[in-house]
Amino acid sequence: MALYERFYNHLTKCLQDRDAFNHFKSADDLDYMTEHRGLDQFKDGFLQQILTHCRMLNLNVDTVLTRCQINDRDGAPFLSTIQYHDRTYHISPNTLRYIDKGLHMLLLFNHFRNQSIKILELGAGYGGQRLILGVLCDLLQIKIDLYTIIDYPQVCQFCQYYLKQVDIDVDILCYDNGHMKDLSTHYNLFFSNYALGELPQDVQSYYIHRIFNNVDHFYLLYNNFLEHGRVNDDLLKYHPLILQEIPLTGSDNKLIISDASL
Ligand SMILES: C[S@@+](CC[C@H](N)C(=O)[O-])C[C@H]1O[C@@H](n2cnc3c(N)ncnc32)[C@H](O)[C@@H]1O
Repeated sequence: MALYERFYNHLTKCLQDRDAFNHFKSADDLDYMTEHRGLDQFKDGFLQQILTHCRMLNLNVDTVLTRCQINDRDGAPFLSTIQYHDRTYHISPNTLRYIDKGLHMLLLFNHFRNQSIKILELGAGYGGQRLILGVLCDLLQIKIDLYTIIDYPQVCQFCQYYLKQVDIDVDILCYDNGHMKDLSTHYNLFFSNYALGELPQDVQSYYIHRIFNNVDHFYLLYNNFLEHGRVNDDLLKYHPLILQEIPLTGSDNKLIISDASL
């Protein structure tokens, strides 16, 4: 918990003070959690991935970039400059990352197209990935029936507030004093980016026991992979595929997914 203290205090302040909310993405307290500015160095890598995914999903890149800029409307984020064809986009590197990962998930689990799905996210930061997935699912005619966020209470509350600004409702499951309520439904996709993989092994196991039997597919961006030394034994029981993160944003990062062909 101590690692996240500044982030949580920052979110709580931004919930109480609209002026602080209006700048919440420029504050160092958030940068330290989501690496807003640091991710600028990967902007071309994210863009290359976005181009590849869009080609495979038959999506128009300009439409995707333009519509996803909605995630930069609130909170005054740092904006990177990217070129695509003859257009220049000013878009936050974090939004680029959310587009890349969102498209990648939907490409891997391509059979979601034209379906209604339920999504579970563990460790949601400020909620930006939910917003971007909403735009992408809309473009792919995927209906999000239910979206549930698991995180600490103040983070869940902040995500709800952030997403309310764009008329998105999310369900929350709060992790408090080492516990969360049981899941009450089955999900098509569970994902956790830079969150589950950085938790202590016992907390990972706690979540794996409570979540994995209730989900069809999973997508996990693990940081500190080598620091933990190996994939959690409980996770190995689900026969994950261990892949490289592209672009590699941390030398120890791995992408761990369920077998997409299942
Ligand atoms: C590094 S941030 C990543 C945020 C977001 N997924 C992203 O990619 O921008 C890690 C997230 O995990 C959450 N987290 C930390 N410990 C947690 C726990 N025990 N249970 C649930 N979420 C946790 C943090 O509050 C934070 O939202």
